[in-house]
Amino acid sequence: MNSPFLSATDGTSSPRVLTAGGSLSGSVRVPGDKSISHRSLLFGAIAEGTTTIEGLLPAEDPLSTAACLRSMGVTISPIEAGEIVQVEGVGLDGLQEPTAILDCGNSGTTMRLMLGLLAGRDGRHFILDGDASLRRRPMRRVGQPLASMGADVRGRDGGNLAPLAVQGTQLKGTVVGTPVASAQVKSAVLLAALTAEGSTTVIEPAQSRDHSERMLKAFGADLQVGGEMGRHISVRPGATLHGQTVVVPGDISSAAFWLVAGSLVEGADLTIENVGLNPTRTGILDVLEAMGACIDILNRREVAGEPVGDLQVSPTPLKPFHFGEEIMPRLVDEVPILCVAACFCDGESRISGASELRVKETDRLAVMARQLKAMGADLDEHDDGISIRGGRPLKGAVLDSETDHRVAMSLAIASILATSDSSLDRSEAAAVSYPNFWDDLERLRC
Ligand code: S3P
Repeated sequence: MNSPFLSATDGTSSPRVLTAGGSLSGSVRVPGDKSISHRSLLFGAIAEGTTTIEGLLPAEDPLSTAACLRSMGVTISPIEAGEIVQVEGVGLDGLQEPTAILDCGNSGTTMRLMLGLLAGRDGRHFILDGDASLRRRPMRRVGQPLASMGADVRGRDGGNLAPLAVQGTQLKGTVVGTPVASAQVKSAVLLAALTAEGSTTVIEPAQSRDHSERMLKAFGADLQVGGEMGRHISVRPGATLHGQTVVVPGDISSAAFWLVAGSLVEGADLTIENVGLNPTRTGILDVLEAMGACIDILNRREVAGEPVGDLQVSPTPLKPFHFGEEIMPRLVDEVPILCVAACFCDGESRISGASELRVKETDRLAVMARQLKAMGADLDEHDDGISIRGGRPLKGAVLDSETDHRVAMSLAIASILATSDSSLDRSEAAAVSYPNFWDDLERLRC
């Protein structure tokens, strides 16, 4: 990776051979939650004192957040698997103007949360950029709410597309309605609110994941959650954030691949340890339960303000499913693997209200439709979703992640269940959120 704007997802590598058949057995500890990892670095950076992070996800996306923070003067110890990470906070107004462009890589969370963090740094100037995928993703959804607080964010397509220039300015607190139920947008506004003049209230159209609210409160922010289903979040500026010890639970979005594999692969016997079970993230468990999946939650506990458990899954025939917009924020990243699950349920499954999938790392509805069709799936893509008629075998095929980490891992599970071997181009994309995925898969196969 020589160019600062080339991430693994832009690279080319030889296709990975994915053998069909066999079973899966054993325990797996999925890597740390990506959303919580980003936030622990960001909030640690603007706190007073040291933040100690256990279980931080050592993957490309959080590394992008750490690199941006380091280039603004934050000391962060090396991020390596199994190592505790320490962030030396510079305080609410201590971030320095960087001398170079802030490279957000493939990470939408980095870019969107950075916009909120930086918009209020009065008198300082920042340029944010990312890889080819990130340059296509909509940023107005953050720029617009921030503009209502006085932010100056510019970019291509009227400020919608990176590279983006942020001229830091003193922001004013206000009531901000976010255009989509997005935790990235909400969190950007909450970060901006910390140094605005006066209080800010964010109102979401539906509740998105609430890691920012939980963690900001734990760091000492003056933050209140109210309204129907926690959709109104108010921040009063002025409170000092204090460095904390954060224990990052395993990412349920990474566990999802094993939950589906463990439900469908004949003879599988999988336990996924230490999985975050925050109710704003557990839509996948609700859908799998409605499909008849056999998942036991063991050893439920609370770790650093987040519910956690071990998930034991055994195979069982799954029923087709329907779900729509109402559950989408709780399982938005799990739609690709649920498309795979649908291929193995007798009958038609339908996902609707999923147009957000079109603006993720790739257009995930189009990419999953294309890749699963190559395996012989019977499906129709819709503007806001997909219908899949499952129950007929998938065959091995020449597959491509199209640079998307969650697509790569979803196709890996599909290819175990296929009738013949597949090959997968750009499989290295998995490293964006799950660097050991291919090793874990190898280890669990039997
Ligand atoms: C994330 C929120 C989700 C999710 C993304 C991470 C976060 O995006 O898809 O992988 O950490 O806030 P949206 O908030 O835009 O739905």
